[in-house]
Amino acid sequence: MPDSLAIRLLDWFDQHGRHDLPWQQNPTPYRVWISEIMLQQTQVTTVIPYYQRFMDSFPDVNTLADATQDQVLAHWSGLGYYARARNLHKAAQIIQQDYDLQFPESQEELEALPGIGRSTAGAIRTLAHKQYAVILDGNVKRVLCRHDAVEGWPGKTAVAKALWLVAEDYTPQQRVDDYTQAIMDLGATLCTRSKPRCGDCPLQTTCVANAQGNPTAYPEKKPAKKKPQREETILLMINEQQQWLMQRRPEKGIWGGLWSFPVLEPDSELEEYLGKKGLKAQSTKELPLLMHQFSHFGLTIKPLQVNVSTTMVKEPQDTSSQWVELPDGLPGGVPAPISKIIDQLNPVTTT
Ligand code: ADE
Ligand code: SF4
Repeated sequence: MPDSLAIRLLDWFDQHGRHDLPWQQNPTPYRVWISEIMLQQTQVTTVIPYYQRFMDSFPDVNTLADATQDQVLAHWSGLGYYARARNLHKAAQIIQQDYDLQFPESQEELEALPGIGRSTAGAIRTLAHKQYAVILDGNVKRVLCRHDAVEGWPGKTAVAKALWLVAEDYTPQQRVDDYTQAIMDLGATLCTRSKPRCGDCPLQTTCVANAQGNPTAYPEKKPAKKKPQREETILLMINEQQQWLMQRRPEKGIWGGLWSFPVLEPDSELEEYLGKKGLKAQSTKELPLLMHQFSHFGLTIKPLQVNVSTTMVKEPQDTSSQWVELPDGLPGGVPAPISKIIDQLNPVTTT
């Protein structure tokens, strides 16, 4: 029976964890709070100089509350996600006015402050107030998803709920502040997103993802959104000389500059369309649909073969259309799905 997860993690933390981060020195609620907010979307090495400048200018919650928003934002310049700074400033003013500058200690009061969620509240309670509390930030989610092989995307409510239960289960009553820092450190240094070093990990013997040999399969990614689907009718027009009308696609947009068949716009009538070209349909035939997936949408091509007769000889209006013999007379490059259609062309239609 291996030691509990917390015991192994704390042993590892004593030897390999980070003990010299600026916010670990004199971890008051104010100092821990500022660091946790900065670290929400930014890495430790980037945060450190910002943190030090911030603390020099705003050493306590009172100074922060009295500063102007411009002064606060100036100290955030380059860190990104500026709502974090605006929320810090607002929360400082609430602590000044409603809490008489005493940093709140309960989970509920902390979570009520702008910018503080369940995990950040937990971190402030353990790291600064030395209370029992549970955290689940990005690093911790990754470690726990792997260790317990938790399936599903953690952004889903049910998965998040399961992860909070796992997190509660492993959080020890003793040394909860060190445990909090230790599990974040493990995620940041060993159990990294793309190259976990399982061989050096104190949790290796009980880690299910390691046993499965696929740690990076966890946590699962956000499921891809379904692509929008479009439909397009293309006209395979063949004249009495057994020539097909091909058209060069506009430079911009899909298949730019390649040769394809004319597209019948969804709101136009075939008769009218042909009439404008001095053509008349003798017979039409729907050919099998073709699907093509682009990166941002799916396209269903509905090819309609139209055997036409010429009612009026018109000068070609532009050089982007040509009557050609197929497959030999291709005027230029052709997209793959259109090439497939050309391979199957048959001059004869039956209506
Ligand atoms: N990320 C979030 N909180 C952190 C902390 N206290 N130390 C290091 N990285 C962190
Ligand atoms: Fe992460 Fe590997 Fe450790 Fe499991 S054994 S917690 S996957 S580093």
